[in-house]
Amino acid sequence: MKTDAYLSENRDRFEEELKELLRIPSVSTDSAYAAEVKRCAEWLAGHLTEAGLETVEVIGTDGHPVVYAEHHAGVESPTVLIYGHYDVQPADPEELWTSPPFEPDVREGRVYARGSEDDKGQVHMHAKALEARIRSGAGLPVNVKMVIEGEEEIGSRHLEGFLKENRKRLSCDAVMISDTTMLGPDLPAITAGLRGLAYMELTVRGPNRDLHSGSYGGAVRNPANALATIIAGLKDEYGRVTVPGFYDRVKEMSGEERASLKAIPFEDDDFQRDLDLQTLVGEAGYSTLERLWYRPALDVNGMISGFTGEGAKTVLPGEARAKVSMRLVPDQDPEEIQAAFKKHVLSLAPAGVDVEVEYHHGAVPWRANPQGPVFEAASAALEAAFARKPLLIREGGSIPIVPMFESLLDASVILVGFGLPGANPHAPDEWLDLGVYQKGISALVSMWGRLA
Ligand code: BES
Ligand code: MN
Ligand code: MN
Repeated sequence: MKTDAYLSENRDRFEEELKELLRIPSVSTDSAYAAEVKRCAEWLAGHLTEAGLETVEVIGTDGHPVVYAEHHAGVESPTVLIYGHYDVQPADPEELWTSPPFEPDVREGRVYARGSEDDKGQVHMHAKALEARIRSGAGLPVNVKMVIEGEEEIGSRHLEGFLKENRKRLSCDAVMISDTTMLGPDLPAITAGLRGLAYMELTVRGPNRDLHSGSYGGAVRNPANALATIIAGLKDEYGRVTVPGFYDRVKEMSGEERASLKAIPFEDDDFQRDLDLQTLVGEAGYSTLERLWYRPALDVNGMISGFTGEGAKTVLPGEARAKVSMRLVPDQDPEEIQAAFKKHVLSLAPAGVDVEVEYHHGAVPWRANPQGPVFEAASAALEAAFARKPLLIREGGSIPIVPMFESLLDASVILVGFGLPGANPHAPDEWLDLGVYQKGISALVSMWGRLA
């Protein structure tokens, strides 16, 4: 009860602090923001200290720092490690934002800002839940460790090394992560599967310089056209990826898995209407949720070539590039897939251009074993806070470090997310529902209590 009073007295302050966190442009992929990423880590460390956590540290890596904190309940207690990330994706295209990405704006009960949902808002919920238990005197029945990293959005490049070097210090029984979604504001969910990833970049080089498209067009291979040819060859008419061996390790869905999807309140019509689409497309023979949760995918994420300014300029570009992601499912292996992709792209390249393929980063697909005390406590706490049993869902996205928590720390992982469908992570106008934010904090507060 004392935690309830604490939460209601501090509601507004929590939201003000969240906005402060969202004002720091912690974009990890762009070196121009490195100082801001560091400032964000320091802000968070100060914040966790204020919340009452112990041994709070900003720990340097060869990339962006990790924020680490602990709370000791006593040696006998089990330990839960909370993982999240304070880095964000770039805010571009900034002109498509209704309000500036790093000036959090509250409209109709949502806070709009880059990182509001993914993942600073959800990290902040954990910080506030811990604060509420510590500062209200309710306390925590288990040891808590926190690892909040600054490189999730660039593949958690240095976190694997960090886990290996700090195995002992990070030892825990379970890892809890809030970096996923619910199915609706009244539909809490626990995520039992993530897709993996292989992120590639293609560079197609033609003539040694840009050319007048009248003087040269038709006699010289155009790298942009060649890139289009390559990309068009990556999928067949059934929406299947043509990379040889791509499906070799893909596990077919079990009858049980197919049946479990019937319990998920998801309608193609709603999904389609939200996106203003005439039709949905994907791999033949699979439903939308099957395509998103159980099947791999290949998508162009960006293309760069030639003239893209206003108006028209007649030019034959000397170079064309594309960024391509492949979403993977068990038991596909990102290393194997990236190698097969490279080979296949080179085989698709027409004469008259040079093609280079680079592998940026990857993630191993993951499936949960949804059980254990933390799962039970989280489940009951979500049910109490949202007045509905959480659904067991999967996500099409990736969190690269998740499988490594299991393999390196021998801990079970539970994903309890508070994002909502349509919250625009990685896109303009990203938002977090403040009602869910507050309810989620209550759920986390009660989850800690239930672990007693
Ligand atoms: N929070 C997301 C993961 C996610 C995506 C969960 C969609 C639920 C739904 C995470 O921050 C993310 O964006 N991960 C990247 C990983 C990549 C950059 C290595 C992703 O999935 O693109
Ligand atoms: Mn995230
Ligand atoms: Mn993300």
